[in-house]
Amino acid sequence: MSQVVTRCDERYLNRGVWRSFMLNAMNLNGIFQEGRAIETLDNIRNDIAARLNEGATRRRSALHTPVVATADADARVMVLRAFERANWRLRFHTDARSPKCAVIANGAPVGVLFYDREAKLQLRCRGRGWIERDTPLADTAWQSSDNYARRCYLGEGPGAVSDGPTSGLPARFEGVKPSDTELAPAREHFAILLVELEMADWFSLAHDGHKRAIIDLKTGEGHWVSP
Ligand SMILES: Cc1cc2nc3c(=O)[nH]c(=O)nc-3n(C[C@H](O)[C@H](O)[C@H](O)COP(=O)(O)O)c2cc1C
Repeated sequence: MSQVVTRCDERYLNRGVWRSFMLNAMNLNGIFQEGRAIETLDNIRNDIAARLNEGATRRRSALHTPVVATADADARVMVLRAFERANWRLRFHTDARSPKCAVIANGAPVGVLFYDREAKLQLRCRGRGWIERDTPLADTAWQSSDNYARRCYLGEGPGAVSDGPTSGLPARFEGVKPSDTELAPAREHFAILLVELEMADWFSLAHDGHKRAIIDLKTGEGHWVSP
């Protein structure tokens, strides 16, 4: 009899308590490992916000380097620098001379594609983007960057044609951290790209059947769709 009880306890522990402990722990973190654990649209929306926040703040996050797509059928990897939950706004740093800045300008549609292999999650986000060069936010972003990273803006603009392989940097700054004075001319090339997300297409891969939902990030309205 006691053996039966012990086995029941084990099963209870394994399936019940442990599972609910894990779900609570994941809930507290705002991050969910399995699509199956969060199958309400509200939870998915909160989970997306938590993941975007982590993508912006943790270098090793799979969401730190999304693909940013523009309406000219071009796409490129960019580093996600900041996420503001209140308005679903993403911030990226870029070179004002790069072709995407002309395409995005002031309000063009922008897609941002994230893939987290471990979480088995694809997030296809869409919104509007705009470029800022001389705003207080661009100034703050510039000031918060390290001089080594800022030296990229001292060189030729992205896409400038060269006779041979080139970093585009003046030779004296290759692998060298410029001083604040030396960096002064780079500021005019620096810009931020802000993307205010509107929609997310959430796709969770699962062995027993994928799940997919379309969510209006601002209003929280959404619906399930077949993957
Ligand atoms: C891992 C990685 C991170 C990158 N991060 C940025 C970035 O944060 N900002 C940026 O403008 N370009 C970044 N790039 C370069 C872009 O992918 C792209 O080549 C460049 O911005 C020129 O883009 P465009 O010609 O589409 O304007 C990154 C590239 C890689 C491989």
